[in-house]
Amino acid sequence: MNVNEIREKSRSVIGPYCKSCMMCNGKACSNKIPGPGAKGTGTVAIKNYDAWQKLEVKMDTIASNNEIDTSFELFGKTFKYPVFAGPVGAVSQHYSDLYNDNSFNEVYVNACAKSGIAAFTGDGLNEEIMIQATRVIKENEGVGVPTIKPWDKETCFEKLKLANESNAFAIAMDIDAAGLPFLQGRIPPAGRKSEAELKEIIDYAKAPFIVKGIMSVEGAQKAINAGAQGIVVSNHGGRVLDGTPATAAVLEEIADKFKGQVKIFVDGGIRSGLDVFKALALGADAVIITRPFVNMIYGAGKEGVEAYVQQLGQELENVMMMTGVSSLKEVSKKNIYK
Ligand SMILES: Cc1cc2nc3c(=O)[nH]c(=O)nc-3n(C[C@H](O)[C@H](O)[C@H](O)COP(=O)(O)O)c2cc1C
Repeated sequence: MNVNEIREKSRSVIGPYCKSCMMCNGKACSNKIPGPGAKGTGTVAIKNYDAWQKLEVKMDTIASNNEIDTSFELFGKTFKYPVFAGPVGAVSQHYSDLYNDNSFNEVYVNACAKSGIAAFTGDGLNEEIMIQATRVIKENEGVGVPTIKPWDKETCFEKLKLANESNAFAIAMDIDAAGLPFLQGRIPPAGRKSEAELKEIIDYAKAPFIVKGIMSVEGAQKAINAGAQGIVVSNHGGRVLDGTPATAAVLEEIADKFKGQVKIFVDGGIRSGLDVFKALALGADAVIITRPFVNMIYGAGKEGVEAYVQQLGQELENVMMMTGVSSLKEVSKKNIYK
């Protein structure tokens, strides 16, 4: 099955909110939470997608016809592409009960590792989710990134302990989850963290720490001060605060300031190898893609992930070939019209 066939197949099993659209652009699910939509007006996810579409790439085929190298080094590991599968929590609530978080992560982590990339795993109120996610990551030789919510200190440390024991090559926190409607007023409590609190958490982590949910130079600076080795320029797909700009709109300024000091990821509306290329051209080291991977798993499990990763890789290679670059390091602002 190809990616479109898998997407079509997922339509009948993915539940009432996600329409498994041919192009996952945030429109049909708009403000559906529960569901994969965005908060409030539901426009931020749409903005994320549209911003990548507005960027245009510069074709240039007068270049040495070297082999195209898409491989990406991160924290001592080599990945096939600069692409990671993003964390998803509460899949049965937001999609359908064909999967729960445990059965989803089992397929997700495994299939991504086999495809030469890595999955971030989501977190939730049920403590079993992190226990199972870290177990699967351990079984996959640490190829996965447990992503912890900004819980109270005690809970964070319990989850970090599991993450440390899993030998995960990196550990993350979606610091912006303070804005998730379903976390408000719940036990364990979650919320904002001061720079000092974040530093304590990062210091306890044995693997390089990635802070997800950065939308400004100031935010990036605070994460770096706290010891982050990676940041994800992300607005959580519009699910935590209405009225934020698209991630593509803030990426360049953040990357101009911090590239080389910290690994810079970006997510939100990235759907194709072409979008991946544009994100790298704006200064990202790598991208994260989430919602389309859910469609792939609901439609075809492991095979869905493999098909999508392969398609993303082929698209990226093709754009690199047609813009005159042969390795990721060569991709820069010169490759897009600005
Ligand atoms: C249903 C759903 C659940 C999510 N759960 C998590 C989560 O547990 N942790 C997290 O860091 N991000 C979570 N996200 C955010 C995504 O990882 C990602 O940041 C966002 O969806 C933007 O990327 P995309 O447009 O490629 O989906 C979730 C997103 C959706 C749609």
